[in-house]
Amino acid sequence: MQKTSNSLVDTLRHRRQKLANLINFPAILWSGSINPRNFLANHFPFRASSHFLYFAGLPLPNAAIRLEAGKLELFIDDPHPSSALWHGEMPTCNEIADKIGADSAKPMAELESRLEGAATIPVQDAATWTQQSQLLNRWVLPQQPPQEIDLELAKAIISLRLTHDESALTELRKAAAVTVAAHKAGMAATSKAKLEAEVRAAMEGVIISHNMTTSYNSIVTVHGEVLHNEQYHHPLQPGDLLLADVGAETEMGWAADVTRTWPVSGKFSSTQRDIYDVVLAAHDACIAKIYPDVEYEDIHLLAATVIAEGLVDLGILQGNPQDLVEMDAYALFFPHGIGHLLGLDVHDMEDLGDLAGYEEGRKRSDRFGLGYLRLNRPLRPGMLVTIEPGFYQVPAILHNREMRAKYENVVNWQRLSQFADVRGIRIEDDVLVTHKGSEVLTAALPNATSEVEDLVIRN
Ligand code: GLY
Ligand code: MN
Repeated sequence: MQKTSNSLVDTLRHRRQKLANLINFPAILWSGSINPRNFLANHFPFRASSHFLYFAGLPLPNAAIRLEAGKLELFIDDPHPSSALWHGEMPTCNEIADKIGADSAKPMAELESRLEGAATIPVQDAATWTQQSQLLNRWVLPQQPPQEIDLELAKAIISLRLTHDESALTELRKAAAVTVAAHKAGMAATSKAKLEAEVRAAMEGVIISHNMTTSYNSIVTVHGEVLHNEQYHHPLQPGDLLLADVGAETEMGWAADVTRTWPVSGKFSSTQRDIYDVVLAAHDACIAKIYPDVEYEDIHLLAATVIAEGLVDLGILQGNPQDLVEMDAYALFFPHGIGHLLGLDVHDMEDLGDLAGYEEGRKRSDRFGLGYLRLNRPLRPGMLVTIEPGFYQVPAILHNREMRAKYENVVNWQRLSQFADVRGIRIEDDVLVTHKGSEVLTAALPNATSEVEDLVIRN
């Protein structure tokens, strides 16, 4: 297990104290269970609950922490004596307690006597949320709005996790740097690769070689119009664009989330370049407007406007760009939000629904262009967000009869057909809101067409 530095213990203590300043009841956070894959000893990789990680710092399976008045009680069983044969010497419960600066350490069975009046947050795996519900004698369900003190705890934790402390930023920068290296490796591998899978392997190889994991299932596809495509079997053809949405996660669980789109041949066609430059203009315009107090929804609408203007200039959309934004016509080609919070989760705290992403009192819009906006808050220094505009030709949208009828007169379908070699483009970076504006943590990865071409061809 990785040795935890004293400065991390200081950070963890500081976070616990800040939580104690916000709530006057105990919080119990479970880490989650190890899930068997096909039999007990062959399991899926363990990922601790992010709320647990935020305060405990280490990905300990089958553990819980009780937080009250800034103190941490750790509940975890000592390893079974037989486990040394298969897993080597594991740290004892007391050794782990030292590493994370716990005030006490007890076996799991003792948690039962420390539950009174405690709030919690459901862990995603069924074994754990069932255990949470049984022990607390109330339903603790993921994907459901939390009730009463659980809601109060969720709001308190959100208020801490929304902006990142120095220790978190150190980790997030590490994830960003490795992600940049992974994307460069993907571009370099393309000219010799025959399948998407080979480029994926080159990218994830960099992440694995830094003893990190991917922070979500990689998207490496010539079918970028499938927004979360998780297939890697397609052959790479010279006229294809390859969309790679790949991010690293550090050992401590902090994530990066980056997308680049590059030509398999190393040269964008003129139609690919035209659309790419529209998406890049939206990306750059959004990042230039990131400042404290700016509304993230306005950043989304700025992207919508730049994309509408660009598509009007190319003759794909027709009409006044502002009107096209108001009628959501741009969303035919950019149907998702401009981005999301990033932290321990790639969509940070999305386990709590929109509680973290949406300012209190705001609700998701049912508008076509705004329904997938995952963040709707004023930006604050210390928030990390993604900026990820895109252009996609999604058959389910463009061949939908109602959509065709509704937007019949604002799309030049004949002109659009000349852009058939552009199925999907996304350009995504990780942007930290600072007191003076923003810092792009992934800026070392080029995104201009000529630089991207260079990285693909040079190798
Ligand atoms: N990286 C995938 C997403 O943001 O949804
Ligand atoms: Mn993203």
